[in-house]
Amino acid sequence: MSTNRDGLDLLRRMRRNRATPAVRSLVRETILSRADLIQPLFVRAGEGGAEPVGSMPGVVRHTVATLVEECRKLEENGIPAVAIFPCIEGSKKDPLATHAHDSGNILFPAIRAMKSACPNLLVIADVALDPYTDHGHDGLLDQRGGVENDRTVEALCRLALSQAEAGADIVAPSDMMDGRVKAIRSALDAAGSHQIGILAYAAKYASAYYGPFRDAVKSARVDAPLDKRGYQMDPANVREALLEVKLDEQEGADMVMVKPAGAYLDVIRAVRETTLLPLAAYQVSGEYAQIHAAARLGWLDYASTRDESLLAIKRAGADMILTYFAAEVAPLLA
Ligand code: PBG
Repeated sequence: MSTNRDGLDLLRRMRRNRATPAVRSLVRETILSRADLIQPLFVRAGEGGAEPVGSMPGVVRHTVATLVEECRKLEENGIPAVAIFPCIEGSKKDPLATHAHDSGNILFPAIRAMKSACPNLLVIADVALDPYTDHGHDGLLDQRGGVENDRTVEALCRLALSQAEAGADIVAPSDMMDGRVKAIRSALDAAGSHQIGILAYAAKYASAYYGPFRDAVKSARVDAPLDKRGYQMDPANVREALLEVKLDEQEGADMVMVKPAGAYLDVIRAVRETTLLPLAAYQVSGEYAQIHAAARLGWLDYASTRDESLLAIKRAGADMILTYFAAEVAPLLA
């Protein structure tokens, strides 16, 4: 038996590599950088400045003027991309999402203003009808109240074309209709927009974590919570996510997404191991809200919980993260 003057006879002491900040930085396996981050932003029509979103501290509904200011700051802080969502007045919503295709839709001047102020900041436009429907669903309803796939895809193609025309760099279908990536790719190509990318919300789950977002875009229902299980994925499934990703790949997606992120780290990992495409993960509104809420109650430390939540998503395999924390964490990162 070997001798040991000071105690246990251990060949490997893991704590040697944890002893100082310097050695910890040498052995660190995952590094989050500002180049990984995408900031979701909300825009509304009208004047009067930014309007806070109650369930998302620090998040606002911008007017076009404050949106442009915010984009300038994000660009200065090294954030490469924003994802823009419109908040549409109730009086403009209808069952057919007519306002999606109206040239008066605030989304289009907002995209134009962002691109003219910050031409190098990528603008990702969400392709879905829920901001425009009075029932809050992502598509057009059939006789029985279900979302009709093929008619919805047609409307999504029209919306994506208008977004491209307004100057969006990437369109991101978040609706979960079948065949929409292929249809949008064909529509864009037919219009000569070969350069416009598609970020497919490939594995988007029917999640309770979207609650605060629905407040932000005012698509929440007071009478009954929205049930999107007829098109969004069952939280129980992971193989199905791989099939969704494969289909979106075959249909021509340039990037794929898993959403939400924090409760779906296993899905992020599984997708990372099966696709060669860049992978995005969306840390959604409820993930953001719960960290704020617990911190306000004094139950969690805000900054370290925030940072750990983002690092975990990167470690699981995401190449890029959509997060409402992007603007505030970017200055802290390399
Ligand atoms: C809708 C859409 C949703 C989100 C992004 N696009 C909500 C939903 O599907 O009901 C959620 C984002 C978030 O919660 O932060 N097409």
